[in-house]
Amino acid sequence: MLSWDDFEQPSQPKKATEPRPAPETLKPEVAEQSASYEAHSAPASPAAQSNAAPAGSSAVEAARAAVADLDPAPGLEELEMGAARIQVDEKRIINCRADLNQLVPFKYDWAWQKYLDGCANHWMPQEVNMNKDVSMWKDPEGLTADERRIVEYSLGYFSTADSLVANNLVLAIYRHITNPECRQYILRQSFEEAIHTHAYQYCVESLGMDEGEVFNMYREVPSVAKKAAWSLSHTQSIGDPNFKTGTPETDQELLRNLIAFYAVTEGIFFYCGFTQILSMGRRNKMTGVAEQFQYILRDESMHLNFGIDVINQIKLENPHLWTAEFQQEVTQMILEGMELEVAYARDTMPRGVLGMNASMMEEYLHFIANRRLSQLGLKEQFPGAQNPFPWMSEIMDLRKEKNFFETRVIEYQTGGALQW
Ligand SMILES: [Fe+2]
Ligand SMILES: [Fe+2]
Repeated sequence: MLSWDDFEQPSQPKKATEPRPAPETLKPEVAEQSASYEAHSAPASPAAQSNAAPAGSSAVEAARAAVADLDPAPGLEELEMGAARIQVDEKRIINCRADLNQLVPFKYDWAWQKYLDGCANHWMPQEVNMNKDVSMWKDPEGLTADERRIVEYSLGYFSTADSLVANNLVLAIYRHITNPECRQYILRQSFEEAIHTHAYQYCVESLGMDEGEVFNMYREVPSVAKKAAWSLSHTQSIGDPNFKTGTPETDQELLRNLIAFYAVTEGIFFYCGFTQILSMGRRNKMTGVAEQFQYILRDESMHLNFGIDVINQIKLENPHLWTAEFQQEVTQMILEGMELEVAYARDTMPRGVLGMNASMMEEYLHFIANRRLSQLGLKEQFPGAQNPFPWMSEIMDLRKEKNFFETRVIEYQTGGALQW
């Protein structure tokens, strides 16, 4: 088994094309490289280094020469020496030409505030005690078959869905959002998506579930696969390295992606599974899994709100993109998402369970679809739809303090782990 101790001595960089040695053979090789390094390396102290490099040698001289020759303005677009300072009016969410490496002055305070709020809500899956869940899951009488199905499907969908969202953020959206405070939030959100995937893996591992079966469910179970396929179909074109914004067509394509991920994937596809698991927790069943989902839902409601703000700001700055035809298309996207989620509700609840059933979930999804449409400035399609689960709104506003420290099982490792 490899450990960090194996790498205490610096070793020669290896060519990327060389095959990686088997762990058993690594240690002697590293020892040999270390001995060779010590024989040829420059003295350790900076003062000694300044005069001691052997003439004509090598790496140290080459590095000095490269630094001396470094052009501080290699490509004027990247680093323009002496350029005027950023004016807040130059900043735009897309197609901005102002320097993206300067966070301030802020233009979009809401984006920065969400970054701060996200950091203030930080949590980790291992903080949640899973002991009661393990006993309940292993007890043949602990849950009904219908309740087990809900746990399996929820973990099956979410264990990969958050990876789809994270990959879309990092590989597709990030480079096209040309505003540093929004990018700062996207970086925070990306880490939160990693924590969510970690949380699902932690549940699967704690309960001793079949990992292959759970993680591959999005390619095997039709009602799960269709949701994943719908999301993925909206990431393909803007994830293409040759895709560029700057025309009405490509700017609309970016908006389509933002709506597909923020308003539908995170804003509709998560709601049936979250409601089912949280209803389970309210009935004192699988309370550890339910607590993980509570924290995830709190993060997700902030992701959704950030996405809606970004989409509406792009509309404000680029009104020509928000045509009647495009509005009709976006309305249909929201309705497609709702239909897919209703199908998932029917598949996961063939009969009543946990005080709910597929018809109640359908009503709830009509209510949610109305919310998404009105948040985007579009006409609601289900007049008068009611929320049969008002307790979901309270959970979304959960404060970190509530119940949190009672169940906390570890402390963060902070500066104590560092050694100088
Ligand atoms: Fe997530
Ligand atoms: Fe999210």
